[in-house]
Amino acid sequence: MIKVEHLSKNFGQLSVLKDVNIEIREGEVISVIGPSGSGKSTLLRCINLLERPSGGSIRIDGVDLLDPKTNVPKIRQKMNMVFQSFNLFDHLSVMENLTLAPIKLLGKSRAEAERKAIELLTLVGVADKAGNFPDELSGGQKQRVAIARCLTMDPQIILFDEPTSSLDPTMVSEVLSVIRRLARGGMTMVIVTHEMDFARDVSHRVLYIDEGVIYESGTPDELFNNPRKEKTKAFINRIRSINHHITSPTYDIYTLHAEIGAFCEKQILPMKTRQNLLTIVEEMLKMYTPVLSTSPVEMTLAYSEKKESVELVFENTGKPFNPLEKSLSSDESGSTGIGSMTQSIDYQRVNDTNRLTMLLN
Ligand SMILES: Nc1ncnc2c1ncn2[C@@H]1O[C@H](COP(=O)(O)OP(=O)(O)O)[C@@H](O)[C@H]1O
Ligand SMILES: [Mg+2]
Repeated sequence: MIKVEHLSKNFGQLSVLKDVNIEIREGEVISVIGPSGSGKSTLLRCINLLERPSGGSIRIDGVDLLDPKTNVPKIRQKMNMVFQSFNLFDHLSVMENLTLAPIKLLGKSRAEAERKAIELLTLVGVADKAGNFPDELSGGQKQRVAIARCLTMDPQIILFDEPTSSLDPTMVSEVLSVIRRLARGGMTMVIVTHEMDFARDVSHRVLYIDEGVIYESGTPDELFNNPRKEKTKAFINRIRSINHHITSPTYDIYTLHAEIGAFCEKQILPMKTRQNLLTIVEEMLKMYTPVLSTSPVEMTLAYSEKKESVELVFENTGKPFNPLEKSLSSDESGSTGIGSMTQSIDYQRVNDTNRLTMLLN
């Protein structure tokens, strides 16, 4: 259906895409993952011709998109895009957001456009918001409206650019459910996402983009469980973890809780582990309080499949500092219970960095 060959894109001196080759078949769901700045958005924008590629070719059903004779607006209707930031028209109601393009571009009557709009809003679960304005909706509802709007054009393929990354953790799943349903319905989709579990169960193929090329690709199982190349491995490990930078004793504990909760859900960790994690993190950050303002703490939480356990790492630079030194060597460890919730605690001093690594029970 889509064939991208030797696609390149430069912004001035900056060469973002060097030689990208992708073939997408009808009904395929493809996830694109890769580090920030690796050109994922640029790739989608090039495929959709929101950016003019510097070289290479993009063919859709055999039609060369870069051929000056090609009717680009017509092709673009076949291929709609959903953005991270929703891109709804804020001054229009939900209904107007959905009917504008079908009336203007497809020449539909208002009644017909509205009927279709209600049908699609029902599909994504927000039909009761038809008369509301975007700023009256939650982020998750806005994104579902954006998906419904995209569907009003009867696209043959939808490009999603990190559709859930500007949402609160609690709203991610409602949007992913809508995309899952489209996948089950056989929609062809290219999805840039950091939601690995979602990518794993929804996509036929996963592409890892780095260094301006499709650095590695495969089935979700190949890419997530058995990446072959070093950079892919490192990336997969990194996104399987959460990373939190804590710079002040008044850090937002609720955001941290929500992130840890979402992480536990993703890794399908037992409730007990989740509670222990929250307790340990809270206790630890209390102990770091005196040094937070001068040497912020970097907290990393990862699930280690090899050790079948959650690993929690606290790092900070500056003077040697091991907050557990005192409590573990005395009876105080009982007061926090951290000792009883962990299999091991390891303090290391590397250069000027303090690293405390814990493996949870
Ligand atoms: N319109 C633009 N002009 C100049 N540089 C850009 C433009 N769009 C993106 N870039 C640069 O291209 C690189 C890739 O960006 P992007 O495709 O947004 O990456 P990703 O979506 O993977 O995070 C970045 O270095 C970014 O700064
Ligand atoms: Mg991007």
